[in-house]
Amino acid sequence: MKKEFLLSILVILGIFILTGCGSNKANPETEKTANDILNNQTETKSDSKVLIVYFSRTGENYNVGNVEVGNTAIMASYMKEYLNADSFEIVPVKKYPDSYDECLKVATKEKEEDARPAIESKLDDISKYDTIFIGYPIWWGEIPQIVYTFMEEYDLSGKNIIPFNTHEGSGDAGTYNTIKNKLSKSNVNTNGLALQGKVARTDEGKEETINWLKELGY
Ligand SMILES: Cc1cc2nc3c(=O)[nH]c(=O)nc-3n(C[C@H](O)[C@H](O)[C@H](O)COP(=O)(O)O)c2cc1C
Repeated sequence: MKKEFLLSILVILGIFILTGCGSNKANPETEKTANDILNNQTETKSDSKVLIVYFSRTGENYNVGNVEVGNTAIMASYMKEYLNADSFEIVPVKKYPDSYDECLKVATKEKEEDARPAIESKLDDISKYDTIFIGYPIWWGEIPQIVYTFMEEYDLSGKNIIPFNTHEGSGDAGTYNTIKNKLSKSNVNTNGLALQGKVARTDEGKEETINWLKELGY
């Protein structure tokens, strides 16, 4: 088991080194549109029973340069627009560093400590949603610790949970099963969607996201 874990870390590191960091530029138009859609926080206005929860980081990011809107947030914006659903961003009380290397260090420490970083704001009423999409980037082959804070802070029992994520080579890294095991009182659909971060920022990423939602029956 330990051997397998070490091997997967080595594979992840290999992908990082082989594909290079920070080489591609972000598209300001995609960021602007995503921001417009996401800033329209409709938690109380719509009568949708679907909620899109996501965590996403801004600043210097792997493969996409310095971004104002993170990859997972852009994916969430496609979903919000297509589903006309409410959204909730998991915003940390203590912002993660803009520097990619510094963020890696913070994430490593949080993982080692099995931390539960605090979330800035609270959802008014989660009981009105029956389906909750949960989106996040893969951090060190896992779910960022702050997403655990969310999963423990709210009563998700009986809800349909559908995970989605972005990454730069690890796919979902087994995290959909981790969520299924963690939320044993929820109905977790492990047919989530894992998009490479730099693809999430393109029309191809948007198309893949919408096709996935259609396959899910939306
Ligand atoms: C702390 C940290 C650790 C990461 N670890 C991985 C990893 O193990 N595997 C991987 O494929 N990508 C990894 N990445 C890359 C992110 O998953 C990827 O860039 C993602 O799209 C970022 O999403 P965001 O812009 O929504 O934050 C890592 C990024 C950070 C900042």
